[in-house]
Parts: sequence; C-alpha cells; structure tokens
Amino acid sequence: MKTTTDFMKMKKDNNKIIMLTAYDYPTAKLAEHAGVEILLVGDSLGMVVLGYDSTVPVTMEDMIHHGKATRRGAPETFIAVDMPFGSYHGSVDTTLANAIRLFQETNAQALKIEGADEIIDVIRLLTRTGIPVIAHLGLLPQSASVLGGYKVQGKTALAAQKLIEDAKACEAAGACMVVLECIPYQLAKTITESISIPVIGIGAGADTDGQVLVFHDTVTYGSHHMPKFVKAFSQAGKEISAGLTQYVEEVKSGAFPAEEHRFTMKDDEYQQLYG
Ligand code: KIV
Ligand code: NA
Repeated sequence: MKTTTDFMKMKKDNNKIIMLTAYDYPTAKLAEHAGVEILLVGDSLGMVVLGYDSTVPVTMEDMIHHGKATRRGAPETFIAVDMPFGSYHGSVDTTLANAIRLFQETNAQALKIEGADEIIDVIRLLTRTGIPVIAHLGLLPQSASVLGGYKVQGKTALAAQKLIEDAKACEAAGACMVVLECIPYQLAKTITESISIPVIGIGAGADTDGQVLVFHDTVTYGSHHMPKFVKAFSQAGKEISAGLTQYVEEVKSGAFPAEEHRFTMKDDEYQQLYG
C-alpha cells in the first residue's frame, strides 16, 4: 500500500497519482486490480449510488457502511473517506468523535473534508490527532446551495487569489493532499506549483499532480448528468442494460434456463420416489 510519503515523492518525480471513487466491494476490487493508487469513498455516493440529488443527505452511517465494503474489496489500497455534510461543522468534540469513528471503523488511511476558513482548524485538529487529512477546495458539493449550484470556481482574480491562499493554509495546517474541483486549469497549475503536498484535480486540467473521477462517470454506469470534465472510459452501463433486456426476453421466451443450467437426477430414482 502506498503512503502519504510515497505520494509526496510522486509529486516531486512528476509521477501522476491516480485516485478514483469507490463505494463497494466489487468496484474496489476492480480498481485495485487496475492499479488505482487511492480509492476515495466519496460522499458523491449519495448521488450516484443512493439516488439523492445532492451530497447533503449522506450520513456518517452511510459513509461507514460503504467505507467498510470498499476496504474489504481493496485491502492493499490507500483509502480516503469523505466526512459527510455536517459531521465536522459542530463542536470540536463532535467533529473529533465523528472523525475518529469514521477513520477507525473504515480502516481508512485518510479523511477528506471540504473548505478552508474555519475548516483550517479542523485540518489541524485531525492531523494532530493522527488522522491524515485531504483538503477539498474549489467547487464544494456540500456547499452547492450557497455557491449557487455546481459551477466553475476561482474565475475572478480575487477568487483565484483566495484559492491559492486557502491551499497554502491547508498545507500549513498539515493536510497531506489537496483535491481541487472545477477550477480553470491555469489556476490549478499555479496552486500545484505553490504547495509541496500533492494536488489531485477533478475538472482542473492536466497540470495537477494527479486526477480523481467518480467511478460511475468513468464507466457510464447510471443515468445522471455527465459534467464536461468527465471522460467515459467504458460503456459498461450500456452493456449492463443490454444484458438485462436479454435476461427479460429469454425468461419470457423460455430460452433461459437451458439444459446446461438445470440440475438433474436419475430417471429411475425419480420414478421410485414419485412414480
Ligand atoms: O465525493 C466525491 O466523489 C468527491 C470527488 C469529486 C473528489 O469528493
Ligand atoms: Na465528496
């Protein structure tokens, strides 16, 4: 399993870091096999797995449940788990209790939290407790209602300057990594060059130290909206859909199950029993 030290070295060596979300056992297994270096149990699971229209309804229990399943599928991979909406915004005691519970029960290597400003204190608190923290800046899905939707961030000089300062503050507070979501690639490049911890981009261009995507988007599994920054690397969703249609048709027509799918017993034994 790679460590935060390995990721620091990868940044120095310009060796791209591969992060992908995962929420369950089979996905984690496939991703580990493919060589994904960090699995993110993202609270995006609220949208792509649980069918909510934002990440806000996701609970601690949801994150623990999916974090544990992901860990079972990828025992050898660095796993980061998102702290869900509201779980790190109350008192220091509640935040710490939630973080410790999430970190311990999912057996994760890091937790991810969104934002800067008052969140900088949370990064420091968790890091000092012994929990590696991945900071998340730019588009913050948990704050989409305040940001006015899912929009590109950091487009004004003022907003860009704030993001550069926020990234530096995250590093100073002890964050082991920064995720930058949905910002102009020029700004992402500047931030990547401004801090010594790895920067993982999503919708942030090619100049960050690594990339992260949502699993369901990369394999087009599910019918949700595909943002501009996503590339479909597989048409698995279409394959699954075609397969399920065929299953329905074959059972209706009697083509399935065929002889090779059935169990049998000797005719004379059957005769003896049921004559
Ligand atoms: O929840 C998630 O999938 C994320 C990524 C978009 C970084 O936070
Ligand atoms: Na998230």
